[in-house]
Amino acid sequence: MALFKRNKPELTDISQIKLPEHVGIIMDGNGRWAKKRALPRSAGHRAGAQTFRKIARYCSDIGIKHLTVYAFSTENWRRPDGEVNALMGLFKEYLEEALRDFRDDSIVLKFIGDRTAFSPELLALMNENEEESKDRPGMVLNLAMNYGGRAELATAVKSIAHDVSDGKLSPDDISEQTISDYLYTKGQPDPDLIIRPSGEHRTSNFLLWQSAYSEYVIMDVLWPDFTEEHLNKALLEYANRNRRFGGV
Ligand code: IPE
Ligand code: IPE
Ligand code: MG
Repeated sequence: MALFKRNKPELTDISQIKLPEHVGIIMDGNGRWAKKRALPRSAGHRAGAQTFRKIARYCSDIGIKHLTVYAFSTENWRRPDGEVNALMGLFKEYLEEALRDFRDDSIVLKFIGDRTAFSPELLALMNENEEESKDRPGMVLNLAMNYGGRAELATAVKSIAHDVSDGKLSPDDISEQTISDYLYTKGQPDPDLIIRPSGEHRTSNFLLWQSAYSEYVIMDVLWPDFTEEHLNKALLEYANRNRRFGGV
């Protein structure tokens, strides 16, 4: 007898489907979410940070092995100082909280992107979180901060050139695998599924090399409104795609 009304609808059942090993999310739409509510953009980022906490936890709970979230691009420095500062403040809050509260957690935190651009305080928090979490058994959570696919490739090319001139690498030995090994994501599988909320149909410089054969799911929801159910829908769509990798 149903005496109580459920206040949450049932989630789509994903227990029987093949899950992607690596999911990427372009966390987009915070600004528009705030604008719709006549709030400052920073309020959208704060709401987006809460969604990120919820979705990262959910991905870990359902058994995703690698999650990469796009938090700040190499191009996002073009935004007004106030907005950039608000974002840096939110990163700091999250990284302090992760150090304080996640000590028994299984999630491994990694940062991809050029971290030298961040304040010494933020840099120390990033290094500390990586060090603290590196031996954990669970999901690898890559936070893309000051990340750009082109910058990543340029950095890789520079390192490869140095190793060639130092005699550590022969030009004839440079393969696709060599390039993968010089990227921030070294040793991790390529993303199987990339989700972009907010309805934009572009990569915005996210994981350019790694996404050669990723399945993209574009969703018409702003990131702060993104729920576990949206993630399940994307996982279901992914499971029904036919990945051919150029074959038949
Ligand atoms: C994504 O939301 C967050 C960052 C890029 C840091 P946006 O701030 O891009 O939100 P929209 O696209 O303007 O709505
Ligand atoms: C991509 O979103 C970067 C992040 C979500 C961090 P943007 O909002 O910066 O991308 P564009 O400008 O719409 O391409
Ligand atoms: Mg945007």
